[in-house]
Amino acid sequence: MEANPQKRKETRKSLRVKVISMGNAEVGKAEQTRMWINQFLGTPISKQSCIIKRYCEKRFVPKYLATIGIDYGVTKVQVRDREIKVNIFDMAGHPFFYEVRNEFYKDTQGVILVYDVGQKESFDALDAWLAEMKQELGPHGNMENIVFVVCANKIDCAKHRSVDESEGRLWAESRGFLYFETSAQTGEGINEMFQTFYSAIIDLCDNGGKRPPSSMGVGFTKEQADAIRRIRNSKDSWDMLGVKPGATRDEVNKAYRKLAVLLHPDKCVAPGSEDAFKAVVNARTVLLKNIKYTKRWAGG
Ligand code: GTP
Ligand code: MG
Repeated sequence: MEANPQKRKETRKSLRVKVISMGNAEVGKAEQTRMWINQFLGTPISKQSCIIKRYCEKRFVPKYLATIGIDYGVTKVQVRDREIKVNIFDMAGHPFFYEVRNEFYKDTQGVILVYDVGQKESFDALDAWLAEMKQELGPHGNMENIVFVVCANKIDCAKHRSVDESEGRLWAESRGFLYFETSAQTGEGINEMFQTFYSAIIDLCDNGGKRPPSSMGVGFTKEQADAIRRIRNSKDSWDMLGVKPGATRDEVNKAYRKLAVLLHPDKCVAPGSEDAFKAVVNARTVLLKNIKYTKRWAGG
């Protein structure tokens, strides 16, 4: 006879997971954290980075209090029919704390990567954060089986925005990461982000700790993502089409056709493909205006 079927059912349903937050200092990171600096002050002081504070307490802290090393917290959340016990490690973003946070990367099921949409450096730094994690996990660490969510934070500061949505989304989705636009100040995107993030972690755990195949397909190729990124960063029309300055009409047309097929909005769903396609059409028009026809039959 089964001893306690109800209890067994609950045990099967509840999960314990580890989540970490990463991203440059002051981007507004995302964990429920409590830091006890009683060794200095004798009294416990509670502090949280902004996104999680907004999620857990529905309030925003305008004052910046840098995380010192790591903040740690435990929280229980109910997602779908599951209860998840989440152990949260909120990493300090400042390079100074590298030696402290590098211990905390292993055995992680979920990562919240945060950047500030008004600070391009914090977006550019995402690759370095991934590299730091990869290095600390070592050759046997597997980044594939971790759920990553990218938070493009501080979207309330629209005037100062320097990384647009399609650029951030492309970076995230081309790596199979979730992407959300958030503001810890207004609360926009925060609940949705956490619900989707935790839900993806449940799917990962239910799939034996492996990312389910359904969450891998992004609907566009790496070649398309790389082309869009290259076009965005190109310095002139030659560079945009990937031809040398002084290229012939034929070379320009050939390069144009290749990119047009790759990025045509009917064929490509990658974020930013429409703008990239328009930019390529425009670059071709500009270049062809200035390149003279070569008389292939000259002298013949
Ligand atoms: P470190 O702990 O040093 O790694 O930084 P952090 O990423 O944890 O930054 P924190 O959450 O403490 O926020 C930094 C500053 O940004 C604070 O002054 C916050 O009030 C502000 N901030 C955070 N999120 C937002 C947001 O969505 N909008 C605006 N306008 N300000 C925000
Ligand atoms: Mg912090």
